[in-house]
Amino acid sequence: MALRNIVKDGDDILKKKCRPVERFDQKLWVLLDDMADTMHHANGVGLAAPQVGIMRRVAVVDIDVEQKGVIELVNPQIIAYSGEQCGNEGCLSFPGQWGIVKRPNYVKVRAQNRHGEEFEIEGRELLARAFCHEIDHLNGVVFRDVADRMLTPKEIEEMNS
Ligand code: CO
Repeated sequence: MALRNIVKDGDDILKKKCRPVERFDQKLWVLLDDMADTMHHANGVGLAAPQVGIMRRVAVVDIDVEQKGVIELVNPQIIAYSGEQCGNEGCLSFPGQWGIVKRPNYVKVRAQNRHGEEFEIEGRELLARAFCHEIDHLNGVVFRDVADRMLTPKEIEEMNS
C-alpha cells in the first residue's frame, strides 16, 4: 500500500492517450492497489492511471454507494449508453475546480480485471458519470474539455455552504 503523487492541472501527461495493458502481472496489481489508496486518501470517487503518471489504460472507481467497493477497470471501453444527465463534476487533478458536464445517464462498460478476465459492468447516474470521466482520462480528455461551462467561484462557494 502506497500513495502516489497526483498529476495536476497544467501537466501535459493529462492530454496524452494511454496504451493498452498487455501484462497482468504484479506491477499492474501494485498499481491498482496504489491507485485505490491514493483515490481514497484524496476522497475521490475515481482515478485514472495517467493521473499518477502511468500511461496505461487503467482506472479505479469507488462511488461509495451500493457497497460495490473499488471497481478496477483495465482496458475499459463503453459498449452501450443511453439517456442524459447534467451535473457538477470535479477531478482530483483539478482541485477547487468544478464544471457542468453532460453525460449519459446509463453506460455499459466492458473491461478486464486484474487477471485479464473480461467482464461487463453497468452504471447509472454517478457511477455512469464516473466511468465516462475516467475513460476520458485514458484518451487524454479531461472534464474541463467537455464541460458546458465551469462554475464561478461564487457558485462553488454556494455549493460548499
Ligand atoms: Co479526473
